Amino acid sequence: MQKLHIEGGHKLFGELQVPTAKNALLPIIAASIMAKGEVCIYNCVKLVDVFSMTDILNSIGCVSTWVDNTLIISSANIHSHSIKEEYTKKIRSSIFMLGPMLSVLGKAKVAYPGGCNIGARPIDLHLHGLRELGVKIEEKHGYIYCDGACMHANEIHLDFPSVGATENLMMAAVRLNGTTTIYNAAREPEIVDLANFLTAMGAHIFGAGSSTIVIEGTKELHGVEYSSIKDRIICGTYLIACGITGGKITLVGSPKEHNMALLSNLKQAGAKIDANNDSVTICCNSKLKALPDIATQVFPGFPTDLQSQMLTLQTTSKGTSVISENLFETRFKICTELIKMGANITLKDRMAIVKGVPKLYGADVEACDLRGGAGLVLAGLGADGYTTVNQVEHIDRGYHRIEDDLRCLGAVINRF
Ligand code: UD1
Repeated sequence: MQKLHIEGGHKLFGELQVPTAKNALLPIIAASIMAKGEVCIYNCVKLVDVFSMTDILNSIGCVSTWVDNTLIISSANIHSHSIKEEYTKKIRSSIFMLGPMLSVLGKAKVAYPGGCNIGARPIDLHLHGLRELGVKIEEKHGYIYCDGACMHANEIHLDFPSVGATENLMMAAVRLNGTTTIYNAAREPEIVDLANFLTAMGAHIFGAGSSTIVIEGTKELHGVEYSSIKDRIICGTYLIACGITGGKITLVGSPKEHNMALLSNLKQAGAKIDANNDSVTICCNSKLKALPDIATQVFPGFPTDLQSQMLTLQTTSKGTSVISENLFETRFKICTELIKMGANITLKDRMAIVKGVPKLYGADVEACDLRGGAGLVLAGLGADGYTTVNQVEHIDRGYHRIEDDLRCLGAVINRF
């Protein structure tokens, strides 16, 4: 069990390249199995979740090789349509294998997915969409059995614009004969990136990034070389970090369009923001004002993946903030730990009422999930004294050595 030890009270200064987005890479790695030929993914981040995904591919006969930061995937010798629980329990994104496996193998048997404990995380929308595409599905003995013998293009309406379901259905539909339309599709940048990746492999996809995605089936997808978008959540995490500590930092690689809700909030709080299509600079000379009302929403609303970090910022902002979590019901676990550091937070159903205090005090705290863990690191950066964040493996799922990035920006933080 590794820990991060943080000396609080240092302002952040400097420039950092934002790494590639994990949430874009995971479905893309799954989609790679549909290519006849090698897929090369450049600037791939070496995160635990990415390795869990390549382990899944390798378990069914794909060969994934790393050359520095390039991931090369060959799927010529797939020998299995079954993914065991020992793989799926590690990562929620294992569910992404359903669409590509149905497309290539005509069937799939996948154990129920695991992942961060941030709420119920059902998969009903994935299964509903697949059924609309003609897949026969049985759920028994902890496995989802999918038979795609009668798959056909169709119109699918999602009751909620789920990111994962939209991605799974795009992948399932891309090689079906005819036109599939997904209504009420998710609009996140990672959806557009997956569409761009599939298009580069020869797919015909229109409307990604809007609520209606149209997919004209194509018989064969070919190998491709691809670079994914940068991680808007990591970018946002470090922008918020600077809001907490003060200072001036520039994050390069993530366009402002991917983080408009956050940037607008930070501006309202008093931060100076200078952003364009490739970088964002934040400058904070004084304590930020509390934001009275923050509610997580689907894109382009405020992202749930930045809620814990934003909540942390509110603990020492001037005033009171009410934060509503509308996507994942157990994403307030961080509050118990922040209260240990001196935060004034009251929880009511899916709302956190945060009254800003002058400062937090360093403490020994536990990361309970990926983004909550990142929030605690930020709390430590701004706190008086020393903070130890335990259970760093949660944070490692989404941030490759977060301490190296933050140290580049002037933080005093070490892993031991
Ligand atoms: C993805 C992201 C995750 C992010 C989330 C929301 C990846 C790998 N993960 O997760 O980091 O927090 O989007 O932006 O990209 N839902 C259902 N039934 C389903 C599917 C989802 O009810 O079949 C609900 C979920 O419980 C949740 C909401 O829909 O309340 C959003 O989930 P979804 O958009 O599917 O998130 P993920 O794809 O799991």
